[in-house]
Amino acid sequence: MSDKKPRRYASWTAGKLPLPELLEMKRRGEKIVMVTAYDAPAGRLADEAGVDLILVGDSSGMVVHGRESTVAVTLDEILVMTQWVTRGAKRPIVIADMPFGSYEASDEQAIANAVRLVKEGGADAGKLERAGTSIDRARAIVGAGIPVMGHVGLTPQTATVLGGFKAQGRTAERAQQLIEDAKALEAAGCFAVVLEAVPPPVAAAVTRALTVPTIGIGAGPDTDGQVLVWHDMLGYYEGRAPRFVKRYADLGEVITDALAKFADDVRTGAFPEEQHTYAMPEEELKAFETKPKSPQPG
Ligand code: KIV
Repeated sequence: MSDKKPRRYASWTAGKLPLPELLEMKRRGEKIVMVTAYDAPAGRLADEAGVDLILVGDSSGMVVHGRESTVAVTLDEILVMTQWVTRGAKRPIVIADMPFGSYEASDEQAIANAVRLVKEGGADAGKLERAGTSIDRARAIVGAGIPVMGHVGLTPQTATVLGGFKAQGRTAERAQQLIEDAKALEAAGCFAVVLEAVPPPVAAAVTRALTVPTIGIGAGPDTDGQVLVWHDMLGYYEGRAPRFVKRYADLGEVITDALAKFADDVRTGAFPEEQHTYAMPEEELKAFETKPKSPQPG
């Protein structure tokens, strides 16, 4: 990353984007851009593209590891991916998702695991799902000096309780509860709150109710920022993407075409060509080719 401001950045500071800048961006009405990433090249590309926040999401369990849900993702998996991503991304704030089972049991458990993500993973912040007991956990982690992002609405880690991967906040009562939950997370010290799969008017109301930014995914246009999952938005995932995903590329097709061409080239002998091989000095080659062959065993 150079120190010259790329045109794509809404807000520019050389080096790591300072966390308080997110509040300023909300105040100025500048949209915050967040994407998930799971390895070093993705971190570098997101940085070069001018993305503000990178989430090392437990969505990796589905889009990278091919699981049916995010529930089985472990802290060690997120930890390793966070190390990879932070090697590639310098300017964006890197947020490590706290996977299911890594923060629910106690404040002590939540703090210890958040500390690992920061100390060993290089994360700038953690993210946890739900309100309820997560409000105390968020407060505890923030109290330990680690920034926390909240996540309400559709919370995939507890999708079973919600009745599946379904939109949330669709009744007046549930919508009001969502506002209260988001406000409680803000009061606990969260620096931002993800709103997933909620009707746009509800997301807009939450956004107005909070001082800290909201980051929407399937929450309409009025949140302070937007996040999409890397594999979904780049067409690099064979599953069915949710309706809120916009595809910006079809990497799956690009990769399949490239692999099919490679397979053809190997089978027809079109690959490798001379440019893909290593030369040896002419005289060495001659000596090698004229040297009597060593006797064969037997
Ligand atoms: O894990 C993830 O990718 C997420 C986003 C959908 C916000 O939590």
